[in-house]
Amino acid sequence: MREIVSTKDILINARKGRYAVPAFNIHNLETIQAVVEVAAEMKSPVILAGTPSTIDYAGGDYIVAIAQAAAKKYDIPIAIHLDHFETFDEIKKYIDMGFKSSMIDASHELFKENIKLTKEVVDYAHSKGATVEAELGRLGGQEDDLVVDAKDAAFTDPDSAVEFVKLTGVDSLAVAIGTAHGLYHGEPKLDFDRLEKIGQILDIPLVLHGASDVPDEMVKRAITYGISKVNVATDLKIPFSDAVKKYFIENPDANDPRKYMTPGKNAMKEIIRHKILVMGSANRA
Ligand code: 13P
Repeated sequence: MREIVSTKDILINARKGRYAVPAFNIHNLETIQAVVEVAAEMKSPVILAGTPSTIDYAGGDYIVAIAQAAAKKYDIPIAIHLDHFETFDEIKKYIDMGFKSSMIDASHELFKENIKLTKEVVDYAHSKGATVEAELGRLGGQEDDLVVDAKDAAFTDPDSAVEFVKLTGVDSLAVAIGTAHGLYHGEPKLDFDRLEKIGQILDIPLVLHGASDVPDEMVKRAITYGISKVNVATDLKIPFSDAVKKYFIENPDANDPRKYMTPGKNAMKEIIRHKILVMGSANRA
């Protein structure tokens, strides 16, 4: 029987095997069920990601308990990951609660401050067998309560990335190469030359945030350059809500959550299936 895993081995294996492990943003029991049921059916390792506001909403202890139940039930590696957490104290609290993977997002800080805070988180996380992702450069767009104006977005500098990884000992690095959280106005323009260079000089797993609404071929190409974790939130939220809305339009008197949640879950599962195929993580559990 399995336990919740850290993201260490699953991401190192993905980088070596040239595929990516999906990190799906979850919000509650139903969204976790949708993710793990499809991942188990496709034998894919999977990461359940929760932003600070999701963890506040659902309760970190509930998320850990649900993920533990899923890890015991399905024979695939399941990690729960703190997405875009910004403070040492919050991360420590949830690692102590059972999360084994965290992002420390100090990308809004100056380089030196980002290094200092990331290193502090890495030292604590590693002492507890947990893994850490950091971000260098800054993604635009909106992820839950985190809003970054396009003018404040900045691409990752390859040489700084090498120095950053060396000084912090971080396990994986989120790179800013032109993706943004949420939907795009027109086709996104990704800086593949920059990503290729980073992938050549850094051998740790690289992370692509803001992968919703990015054409599949671009995601696949990014994976060939070293992206080993792909974050998806918006592309799951929209079909879930659309299916629930449709159900209520067709059944205006409905009031049974078991009935109206099910079409939402099913719509979400279809997209999860597709994303796992695009990322190449099926049969890698
Ligand atoms: P999207 O909402 O654009 O998929 O971004 C998700 C993400 O990067 C979570 O960290």
